[in-house]
Amino acid sequence: MLFDYSKITTISLLILFTSCQPETAGPCTFEQALHGQAPYPLGFAADVAAFRFDPDYQNHSSFHFNSITAENALKMEHIQPARGGFEFVQADSLVNLALRKGMRVHGHTLIWHNQNPPWLSTFSGDRQAWIDLMKEHINTVIQHFSGRIHSWDVVNEAFEDNGDLRETVWRNGIGDDYIELAFQFAAEADPDAMLFYNDYNLWRKSAKCRAVLALAEHLQKKGIPIQGIGFQGHIDIRGPGQREIELALEELSALGLQVHISELDVSVNPLGKASPDLEGNFGKQAEVYRMVAEAYTSSVPADQQFGITFWGLADAHSWIPSFFNRADAPLLWDANYMPKPALCGFMDGI
Ligand code: G3I
Repeated sequence: MLFDYSKITTISLLILFTSCQPETAGPCTFEQALHGQAPYPLGFAADVAAFRFDPDYQNHSSFHFNSITAENALKMEHIQPARGGFEFVQADSLVNLALRKGMRVHGHTLIWHNQNPPWLSTFSGDRQAWIDLMKEHINTVIQHFSGRIHSWDVVNEAFEDNGDLRETVWRNGIGDDYIELAFQFAAEADPDAMLFYNDYNLWRKSAKCRAVLALAEHLQKKGIPIQGIGFQGHIDIRGPGQREIELALEELSALGLQVHISELDVSVNPLGKASPDLEGNFGKQAEVYRMVAEAYTSSVPADQQFGITFWGLADAHSWIPSFFNRADAPLLWDANYMPKPALCGFMDGI
């Protein structure tokens, strides 16, 4: 059974209402779009083909979300598959359709260690050649989408969990200052764009969280533009706890930057059990979603709330099962777009 938005009736609302009552969450109805429940934008990571060609995917996403991030289409392997050969067709189609649907488009991501084109790993050149290469990529992509994409994850996942800078092709080619150069080039390419640093495991005032704070302060001191921090938020039913989330969000908010929970999902099978009781963990999952939403509201000042983005639309689209080769159900709707307790939990926390 698929959810049909054109046929919302009292009976269907009643079924949805009763099918979505986690122990921890309050009443949950679907008379309004999910994004209408929050005072900040709510987004999802989109698969281009599904967003363009699957009507259920398109209807569900445009009904519930007012912000979109391309899950893969803007990454370098797709955008510059050959040296100097930029391919914008897929990304343009996603961006233009999203704008027609009234969504804000967030750009992910310009500089990363992963999903780079194969030619990049064999590129050889001195520091200046690498700087020129990075500048060309950033300039070309940002300027291509200028006026359509107003915010970018300029650098993604530059730190290890222990706070050390990650070894990447960019760092190897340029040096530790590749991050500040990337932000500088991005700001020059589009002075109106909002520039984010994006990373995971920032929840527990961790070593990585400290490193990100230090980076942002360093950029601010040098006058290099940075407007926001992306807290990815790939977490699971074991936590972290609400206070741990709040402390980290409070500290990052103190930078005065926008805070984006940029890739939220909550795994119900984090240990990768072969025959997991996924549904048995839906109540815990709802509680974690409630906690995250509540922590965001209580710890990030309203004018710094860039929004919350879920990493995928419904369970059938999550990256987790294929990436980790395990059964999982980390999102707010099941494979048939039926609401899960997670949806009520999240709405309860807003
Ligand atoms: O496009 C190819 C396809 O041609 C091929 O047939 C297929 C066979 O496996 O693979 C396809 O590529 C996959 C790609 O997703 C598109 O679906 C890759 O194998 C797969 O590794 C890739 O995974 C993406 C992952 O980043 C790569 O690191 C996930 O979709 C994407 O959700 C995930 O997103 C990242 C964020 O960008 C950064 N933060 C972490 C997050 C989760 O890993």
